[in-house]
Amino acid sequence: RRRVLQAAVGVGGVAALGGLGALRSSTSIAAPPPRGSTNRLFIPPSVTPDTALTAASGQVDLGGGTVGKALVYNGTLPGPNFVVRRGDAVAVPFTNNLDAETTVHWHGLIVPTAEDGQPHEAIAPNGTHTYAFTVKQRAGMSWYHPHPHLATASQVAYGLAGGFIIRDSVEDALSVPSEAYEVPLVIRDANVDKAGNLSYNGKASGFTGNIALVNGTRDAALEVDQTWYRFRILIGSNSRLFNLTLSNGATFRLIGNDGGLLPTAVDVPAMELSPGERVDVLVDCSGLAATQTVGLVDTNSGWPLLRLTGSGKPGGLGAVATVPAAGEGLSSDGPTFGDIAPVTTRLFSFDGMTRINGVVYDMALNSFNVPAGDVEDWVFRTNGNAPHPVHVHGASFKVMSRDGGRRRLFPWEEGWKDTVLLHDRETVTVRLRFDSGYKGRYLLHCHKLEHEDAGMMLNFTVV
Ligand code: C2O
Ligand code: CU
Repeated sequence: RRRVLQAAVGVGGVAALGGLGALRSSTSIAAPPPRGSTNRLFIPPSVTPDTALTAASGQVDLGGGTVGKALVYNGTLPGPNFVVRRGDAVAVPFTNNLDAETTVHWHGLIVPTAEDGQPHEAIAPNGTHTYAFTVKQRAGMSWYHPHPHLATASQVAYGLAGGFIIRDSVEDALSVPSEAYEVPLVIRDANVDKAGNLSYNGKASGFTGNIALVNGTRDAALEVDQTWYRFRILIGSNSRLFNLTLSNGATFRLIGNDGGLLPTAVDVPAMELSPGERVDVLVDCSGLAATQTVGLVDTNSGWPLLRLTGSGKPGGLGAVATVPAAGEGLSSDGPTFGDIAPVTTRLFSFDGMTRINGVVYDMALNSFNVPAGDVEDWVFRTNGNAPHPVHVHGASFKVMSRDGGRRRLFPWEEGWKDTVLLHDRETVTVRLRFDSGYKGRYLLHCHKLEHEDAGMMLNFTVV
């Protein structure tokens, strides 16, 4: 059950610049600073949608000699990566071997209330529940994590999270890397104590750890062949925002986000992303010579997150010779209700660190009802202590505008989203329609998990 010990990968000195062939940029950006060691990136196992899942405490190897206690799904951090096809029936027998209540929330998946892992559906220690639902939505990367009342932040911080990838025929028709060339990256920060155990000291204002973990690996490195890579990125931090760039100034070819493929591919030099958001990007490593390195860097913290080191070998099974060009169409199944006038407009003020519209979360309170099938505009406004990544359960939304159109939307805010970042004093309008056929209680909350636990959450009911 324990994950394989990670061998240290010797990487010579400072990263070489300008290795990324086609996406090479003349702008030279400082390479990540040299580190004492780099550790082979852990890739969580891919599993089918009938795989049993257990939450328990366990020992994990974070790399670089850091082995310590964490909370883990099926023994690994992150937990296994579910890979399913649209239309699949999911039946995951879950066992809670923690010493506290937990739930499994399928973030981004539209599932019935009883399978949504809400705080109301807590599973006691030694309890079990088989999460069963049918995947009706389009291809994309969702994820799963605990959502118990008042303890979501700590359980996630101690390690509980995993990826959930949906495939479909629209995605099948694209020429994109697969197999070893499609790599999930769960990016977060963490603290470890002297013994190497994950530690956590979040307060209502948030939590920022002092090391980065990519797939649970600190100072992570990945040896890359001379071909395109597809990185499925999830920001799995509690509070920290990441501004992702490549150290040689090359761009990412962005093809997807929370809700799957974007309408068109677009090249972006940087992506500022908040807890819960996902992006699907292609990176051209075809020009990277053996031992040359390029870093995936967070420019907010200055941290090198992942060092890509050239193997000097051509791409093998799963590599593709061409990928969608910037500007090329990817999918036409985006939100279709963008032009429909909303039946109802609701305003939500994210106040301080603990309230929405002045109210602290109360499990027993239903804040409002949404008629199934109505198009609604939800207007999110911040009132201090932002950023707030705002997340909705039960439906995906289309981001309509930021500050009434005075500020632009980011390229990863096209298509379908379930989490949207608000900075201080911003107002973001999203349009949504609960048309899954499921009725019942869902949640709206800030995905800064400390804000969520402190009360920045509400229940609503689809009727
Ligand atoms: Cu990722 Cu309600 O959460
Ligand atoms: Cu918040």
